[in-house]
Amino acid sequence: MAQAKFQTHHGMVDILPGESEKWQYLERIIRETAAEFHFSEIRTPVLEPTELIARGIGQLTDIVSKEMFSFSRGETNYVLRPECTAPVARAYVQHHLDQRGGAQKLFYIGPMFRAERPQKGRQRQFHQFGAELIGTDSPIADVEIIRFMMRIYEKIGLTKTTLMINSVGDPESRAAYKTALQDYFRPQLSELSEISQQRFETNPMRILDSKEDEDQKFIEDAPLITDFLNEACAQHYAEVKQYLGDSGIIFVENPRLVRGLDYYTKTAFELISSDVGSQDALGGGGRYDLLIEEVGGKPTPAVGFASGIERLMIACEALGIPLGEEPALDVYVVTRGEAAQRWAMDAITQIRKLGKSATMDFSGKSIKAQFKDADRQNSRFAIVAGDDELKSGSFNFRDMSDSTETPKTLAEILDILR
Ligand code: HAM
Repeated sequence: MAQAKFQTHHGMVDILPGESEKWQYLERIIRETAAEFHFSEIRTPVLEPTELIARGIGQLTDIVSKEMFSFSRGETNYVLRPECTAPVARAYVQHHLDQRGGAQKLFYIGPMFRAERPQKGRQRQFHQFGAELIGTDSPIADVEIIRFMMRIYEKIGLTKTTLMINSVGDPESRAAYKTALQDYFRPQLSELSEISQQRFETNPMRILDSKEDEDQKFIEDAPLITDFLNEACAQHYAEVKQYLGDSGIIFVENPRLVRGLDYYTKTAFELISSDVGSQDALGGGGRYDLLIEEVGGKPTPAVGFASGIERLMIACEALGIPLGEEPALDVYVVTRGEAAQRWAMDAITQIRKLGKSATMDFSGKSIKAQFKDADRQNSRFAIVAGDDELKSGSFNFRDMSDSTETPKTLAEILDILR
């Protein structure tokens, strides 16, 4: 086929019929689970102030320094949101959501944008579902967030996953750890990859996240954050693990787990699948007790997660887990002549009022072509209407699965469909 003149941008895809049903199915499960956990939906704009994202996520992160789709109009700087935690924090402060009373349990589903190099499981426009629990520092909240995330995967049937957890401490614990890491890496600095050398000064914890081969042997023996946690962080982490265990959630402690966003404090976690390819993080999250204040609110502890929908789909496909299918059509009305077309317009309305799907031909196809069309749309039944049928009030009602036809009035057909 000739290539279309206009194509989607690299790393951005259309979701077409046949695929969109899978999305609807997943979104239904996410919404159902959110209702069970009593999380309320929040929808924020796709465009956010650049300053919010830069401050929220961190100037030195890959996302902010290299991957932002941003532009200006006049004095205003816009960025296509690369994630939704900073936007939700903004909305929480802007609309005084704390005044709703108690901790706020919010969830979202929507597109995010990062100008990364596209590959399998990594797009420039991708979709996340996620949740934020704002206004409590209780470790029970961390576990509630993880339980919500895990329950969605469980319902979908994607259980071949590994939950990795860590504590990245608070600024006090991290300052001590940063010094220890720099002391450890300094003697071998020139042997580290270029990117890790850059991170040495700015954010040495990110060296632990390096994928470069030459860094791996140094990372192996690096000091661990868990040895530098102050008492409050250590206690919080111990309780999170305790409650996860009590909830029957299996996890692996990974003291080298660091996340790509700067706002995390204490708990950090990632859900990994070996069935997605090299981009193996299905989802991730953690606690961010300082973000709300950073974006202009009162000190407010919070915890959340976000998961990639595309990666979830890749894993399901690899494991043969079925997602929603294109729905079959209930009735196709095959027409011969203009009077029959007019009759069909009314008939499909009556069928639709029963909550059944119905359609007809709109382009004047032959009877044979209409039956073909009904087949292609996977129709369960067809009604044949022409001048004779209109006169007698009796229509051939065809069961498309075995092509048997019985004469019926429209009232009888509606009864059968009901
Ligand atoms: P994140 O780890 O940057 O965290 O992204 C969460 C998930 O989004 C990833 O695990 C992955 O499944 C998916 N994802 C990220 N980038 C891409 C991409 N380019 N293509 C496809 N999928 C992608 C966050 O975004 C945090 N806001 C999570 C959070 C919520 N933390 C606290 N609350």
